[in-house]
Amino acid sequence: MLDETFLTPAQIVAELDKYIIGQHEAKRHVAIALRNRWRRLHAPADMQKEIVPNNILMIGATGVGKTEIARRLAFLADAPFVKVEASKFTEVGYVGRDVESMVRDLAEQAVSRLRQRRQEAVRTQAAQAVEDIILDALIPPVKAPAKDASGSRSGLGFNAGISGDTIAGDAVPNSDQELNERTRERFRQKIRNGELDDRRIEINVAQSGPSVGIMGAPGMDEATMSGLQDMLGAMLPKKQKKRKVTVAEARRVLLDEEAAKLVDMDEIKEEAVRQAENSGIIFIDEIDKVATGSGSGKSGGPDVSRQGVQRDLLPIVEGSAVNTKYGIVNTDHILFIAAGAFHVSKPSDLIPELQGRFPIRVELQSLTKDDFYRILKDPKNALTKQYQALLAAEDVTLEFEDEALLKLADIAAEVNAEVENIGARRLHTVMSRLLNELLFDVPDKLPAGTQLNVTPALVEERLRDMVKNRDLNQYIL
Ligand SMILES: Nc1ncnc2c1ncn2[C@@H]1O[C@H](COP(=O)(O)OP(=O)(O)OP(=O)(O)O)[C@@H](O)[C@H]1O
Ligand SMILES: [Mg+2]
Repeated sequence: MLDETFLTPAQIVAELDKYIIGQHEAKRHVAIALRNRWRRLHAPADMQKEIVPNNILMIGATGVGKTEIARRLAFLADAPFVKVEASKFTEVGYVGRDVESMVRDLAEQAVSRLRQRRQEAVRTQAAQAVEDIILDALIPPVKAPAKDASGSRSGLGFNAGISGDTIAGDAVPNSDQELNERTRERFRQKIRNGELDDRRIEINVAQSGPSVGIMGAPGMDEATMSGLQDMLGAMLPKKQKKRKVTVAEARRVLLDEEAAKLVDMDEIKEEAVRQAENSGIIFIDEIDKVATGSGSGKSGGPDVSRQGVQRDLLPIVEGSAVNTKYGIVNTDHILFIAAGAFHVSKPSDLIPELQGRFPIRVELQSLTKDDFYRILKDPKNALTKQYQALLAAEDVTLEFEDEALLKLADIAAEVNAEVENIGARRLHTVMSRLLNELLFDVPDKLPAGTQLNVTPALVEERLRDMVKNRDLNQYIL
């Protein structure tokens, strides 16, 4: 985990820049926070205990990139990462997920991440084992040296259906066993280069045992319940089931199974908990939804439950021990990033203790016409690139003239200002409106080989009326 190649703050920002336009402040803060995790792990052990993460609160209108930053960060962090919606914990009159479940999710994520990596590492070894299983199914090995000297081929153990591939041996084999060996080698080669992929064989596959359902009892929390479920599941004998599959399928089905046998699950669990504790990141989206709106003196109803969620959040963010099925996870050093639009409520509507636990406040900027233009064009996953890729699949090329993009950005900004500001999300609706007809006409009317140009005139034609007509644009754009 102490990876010397860990990204520097500037590198993190540069990576984020590939996907997110603007929002430099926010990028810098998350970059520092991320790098601080690495720094802490390189600090003396006694100091490590003292260094607490500086949790971040991202504030910004809808559609300006809060969630997007978190998503991209997850890739970069190379650490256990979960994103939860605070509002999920509020359902009134329904005992929803308890707040601690976010830590259990993190542990779960850490385990599956690590297991995947470990299994990846033993992939070649597993592939070898799988090949052996498939080979055994095709040509069972002859074990004892053949005793009867009659040279009968009855003991070769050919499966039905493959007798066409009998051996055209040049040298006369000494024994059935040797013959069997040679046949097996030949078949091993054939398996390897995929010649037998369509051949059907019978294999044993582990059946995922019947899932054990447990009714929640009062006072039983989620951790206990899922732990109990797992325990019961493990106690039941794992059923093996015979299945007839093609060699290609067998390879796919068996590979995971064999890889799983080769990794040490206990070690994985231990290491995963350590990673969750030391480099885990929990992104709490929509935190404004659990803030009690300003001026709400009313008692009862959703406000109470929202405050309750905040109170539940407090110990977790502050640092506490949460019981998960992989062991106790200490939340002291988990980095929390919260985000919210705070349209109705304000950060100061959060209970003071919680406000204190998010010392870094970053405001994301509203996006301008200029930003929209760049968002359409620059990000690696820019909308224009997405549509180009879609149409490229039909062998149709799609080009956007610069002027057309400027116009699109202009229209998006205008509709945002007039109807409702939904930030960059507006680009999706505008773009789909613009291209809708073309997308329908390919390939029937616009066959493969067509070259489409999005010109300012086209944008004008498809969208201008819409923008002018308030009644229309409220519904369509
Ligand atoms: N600064 C930006 N650069 C590039 N794309 C952006 C930017 N801001 C938003 N987008 C795009 O707009 C869409 C919505 O953004 P995102 O999900 O980050 O909004 P948000 O800030 O989380 O809003 P909300 O408060 O409604 O959750 C995404 O598809 C994202 O790609
Ligand atoms: Mg969001």
